[in-house]
Amino acid sequence: MLILGIETTCDETSAAVVRDGREVLSNIVSSQIDLHAKFGGVVPEIAARAHLESLNAIVAEALTTAGITNPQSQLDAVAVSHCPGLIGCLLVGVAAAKGFAFAWQKPLIPVNHVQAHLYSVFLHDPDSTSSSNSQFTVPNSLFPAIGLVMSGGHSSLYHVHAFDHLVRIGQTQDDAVGEAFDKVAAILQLGYPGGPLIDQLAQQGNDRAIPFPLALLAKDSLDFSFSGIKTSVLYHVNGKKGRERDASSLTPQQKADVAASFQRSAAEMLIEKLRRAAARFETRSLIIGGGVSANSTIRRRVLELGTHLHLPVFIPPMRYCTDNAAMIAGLAHRLLLAGKIATLALETIATV
Ligand code: KG4
Ligand code: ZN
Repeated sequence: MLILGIETTCDETSAAVVRDGREVLSNIVSSQIDLHAKFGGVVPEIAARAHLESLNAIVAEALTTAGITNPQSQLDAVAVSHCPGLIGCLLVGVAAAKGFAFAWQKPLIPVNHVQAHLYSVFLHDPDSTSSSNSQFTVPNSLFPAIGLVMSGGHSSLYHVHAFDHLVRIGQTQDDAVGEAFDKVAAILQLGYPGGPLIDQLAQQGNDRAIPFPLALLAKDSLDFSFSGIKTSVLYHVNGKKGRERDASSLTPQQKADVAASFQRSAAEMLIEKLRRAAARFETRSLIIGGGVSANSTIRRRVLELGTHLHLPVFIPPMRYCTDNAAMIAGLAHRLLLAGKIATLALETIATV
């Protein structure tokens, strides 16, 4: 079964063709980083316009790369992320998907972007030599799982009964963890997007140098809060009230120490909630996804937690951590089998 997936929730325009929910025949991702970098973050109107300009070409490239010459006869369905995301961006993807589904007379499958991030662990990674993190069959014995999605827009914890049956058990009360990484990178004057830059700089730092406070909330809470640590970093780097000096007064080693200490604290907050969830709910595996799951410290800590709890851990291949349409087309295969098809009246939902 061949599904075309379309992804336009934020600042990546992507289209992919996936066979039987696992085999990625094409996954074209066009990042808008250059358009947003000078603003230090994603500008929704610019993002929506850029999707509009590039989506048709991206879809055409995804079809060609996958060897689809006649979509009407070769494709089985068209899938699109219709929630959550920036509303103008979602509208572009959903309108295009409706057009393709109507023109080719194919089922239209709506996909939740955050849930698709968790599905990305089961996409086949053509470059991977190990099968530990990207197995080619989804064993049902992995469910129920605890799933943690960490991205620029979300920090959400799920009890996953199946890929089309997830119950959210925790979420951020303020900023998403990726937002905190991006903000800390901005405070350190590293550039945008900040997550990979912090990850890189932290390799040279002492992660015990600065004891940034952990916001773990109430003893039994499964929610997250990242605004406090963001402010702590700001005050540490810029002085009282965040206005006395800036990162240019730090030595390269001091900057690296801030990056490493922040990264260790952020990872600890995420791991503690995974630990709590696994203790409270029936858990047969741990699954992570989203852009921040590319982080080296977080990947290592989740694997260590799995070893400690004797649970298998599923981590996306690096290429499928950040936004991509392969995860949309992949999850759509499961949804199609479950009959979860939309009509052309499908709506976009900014927050869920
Ligand atoms: O999943 P994603 O592509 O977009 C959303 O759905 O939001 O995630 C993007 C986020 C950005 O905040 C980026 O800084 C972060 O993922 N990110 C990282 C790393 N790579 C990307 N954060 C920490 N460490 C990384 N290596
Ligand atoms: Zn995402």
